[in-house]
Amino acid sequence: MNARGGGVVRPPGDKSISHRVLMLAALARGTSEIDGLLTGDDVKSTARVLRQLGAEISPIRAGAAVRVRRRPLTTPHAPLYCGNSGTTARLLLGILAGQRFRARVTGDASLRRRPMRRVTEPLRTMGAEIVEEQGDGLPLAIRGGRLRSLVYTSPIASAQVKGALLLAGLAGRVAVTIREPYRSRDHTERLFVHLGLNLHEQGGAIAYEPSSRSHFRSFQLSVPGDVSSAAFLVAAAVLAERGELLIENVGVNPTRTGFLVVLERMGAHVERVNLRDSGGEPVADLIVRPAELTGTEVPAAEIPTLVDEVPVLAVLASRARGETAFREVGELRVKESNRLELLAANLRAVGVRAEARGNDLHVEGTERPPRGRVDTAADHRLAMAFAVLAAVPGADVRLSERRSVAISYPGFFTDLKRIGA
Ligand code: S3P
Repeated sequence: MNARGGGVVRPPGDKSISHRVLMLAALARGTSEIDGLLTGDDVKSTARVLRQLGAEISPIRAGAAVRVRRRPLTTPHAPLYCGNSGTTARLLLGILAGQRFRARVTGDASLRRRPMRRVTEPLRTMGAEIVEEQGDGLPLAIRGGRLRSLVYTSPIASAQVKGALLLAGLAGRVAVTIREPYRSRDHTERLFVHLGLNLHEQGGAIAYEPSSRSHFRSFQLSVPGDVSSAAFLVAAAVLAERGELLIENVGVNPTRTGFLVVLERMGAHVERVNLRDSGGEPVADLIVRPAELTGTEVPAAEIPTLVDEVPVLAVLASRARGETAFREVGELRVKESNRLELLAANLRAVGVRAEARGNDLHVEGTERPPRGRVDTAADHRLAMAFAVLAAVPGADVRLSERRSVAISYPGFFTDLKRIGA
């Protein structure tokens, strides 16, 4: 980061909310209108598969509202290709479980390596027929149909699992009750409630109950900025030598803001101003200033609230005084890349002491400028995290590629430059 860090910036639309809003709009009666949708590749994958199923979706372009018109979902003529997007694939399987036709679901090489049984097992229990082609992953074929209600305790805290099962309940018109070990992001629940669907919390479980009305109505909604994308800008501003950064229109749902909580513990205070509500989600503007950081311990219970921010937090930890330990982050092995091993290896490659020990990640801070080559493995969050590290004074960090940022933050490098990094 050069000396000038600062300015005003707006992160792109929230990826998790964008997927869900498109899917719900494709199921809602009538035509919905959505503002602020992420234009990243993952969301385009969701739009593509929904179009293959018959939904009418206007082009997804920056600055333009997107219109979604529901059509009865029909048998797709080609495999449903979910690109790099785990959220697309898993949530889609929930919707398909409620349809009386067969569809084949696949994705790129990274997505085909990711586990799907966490979703397909409970969907099978509900009555969906699923045929795997190569063990636990994609491609697979699914035939939905008459579903049974489900009471399920998930072994992992996963919003993709929870979202898939709630969408299966919605599409198949059956009750679903889910418990998870820790609360994962609750965007599906908030959207259900916002759209008037019958969802409530019951003794720590999430319960959806179909109502006698079989359809819910189309809607207008504005998607807040993505706090996971904003996290990279926050990190760049914290590591800057001076300046003040205003990040506008950021979703601050508490199931997503663990990054800010940990940052506070490390010694950086991010101010939230202009708090408001948008479509059932809390939104704020963030003010960030440079800070001296100290290492911390991030316990397992905190991980679901910052699961996508571990890469950027690990980068911040590498610039902090002392050690930081992330506990029970084994899930990072099955993200867009093996983030756990790659984070440790890439940090070592730029001169930082870092190690994956079992399911924990340890990072030792240093004042030495980072120097070396980083393998992003085409993982957008690794590319952005190490791009932030590449901006610290004296750094000489080369990334194996930069294109992957288009998955969740197409304008990332422009924004990073604009804020002076
Ligand atoms: C997401 C949930 C998280 C997260 C992913 C997006 C979602 O995955 O890592 O980037 O939108 O539901 P898990 O649900 O597997 O933890």
